[in-house]
Amino acid sequence: MKHLIAGNWKMNGDQALAKSLVAGLAVKAGTKPKADIVLCPPAPLLQAVAAAASGSALALGAQDCHADEKGAHTGDVSAWLLKDIGCSFVIVGHSERRADHGESDALVKAKAAAALKAGLTPIICVGETDAERNRGETTRVIARQLTGSIPDLGSALSLVVAYEPVWAIGTGRTATTADIAAVHGQIREVFAAVGGTARSAQVETLRILYGGSVKGSNAASILATHGVNGALVGGASLDLEDFWRIIEACP
Ligand code: 13P
Repeated sequence: MKHLIAGNWKMNGDQALAKSLVAGLAVKAGTKPKADIVLCPPAPLLQAVAAAASGSALALGAQDCHADEKGAHTGDVSAWLLKDIGCSFVIVGHSERRADHGESDALVKAKAAAALKAGLTPIICVGETDAERNRGETTRVIARQLTGSIPDLGSALSLVVAYEPVWAIGTGRTATTADIAAVHGQIREVFAAVGGTARSAQVETLRILYGGSVKGSNAASILATHGVNGALVGGASLDLEDFWRIIEACP
């Protein structure tokens, strides 16, 4: 199983970046890159990124979706439309959406289920805040978020989980590899437990990404950590050379 490196541009980038960065990445990646690569630009740039990535192995992902297929939801985008315009992934439950938009585990679960139904691979994010970590609640928070956010249907191969400690996002701080290995191990256990026997048999094929200040300079040790199957990269995904270093650092 190849590692998966996902670039989450968040609310950054414009048409010029979509063209230049993605064209450069497409040349480097060609058709057989070392890792599976997915780019998640802001929704208005999805088609520009798709055009610039055309003919390469770069996949397209969105940063969020609505749980419904269509309807009166001004400003929202459905998983079905994302699939229609060429996406294969969608991030759901990012901590910035949980914090900025009050998204609950139940809503994240509904969005992940919609993504699966539309034929997308949801990247379901979980992670504790600094305060929760300092109170020793990491394990409890991860278990609660995961149990509440993982859809009932969907095999281990049809979805991805991302562990992003909130305190590590955009701060330059990263969790230790020992902590990452422990949380990823826990995520695998919880995933197996919530899905019954079918999921527990497939649990080794579940891809679990680490996210939070991953850069070219620290990627190798993180990506070689037991139980880590890739990275969800924010800031560094906007820099062609740094993002490429992360991809090249995959074991
Ligand atoms: P940074 O890599 O900028 O810390 O962001 C991580 C993240 O939130 C990716 O989804």
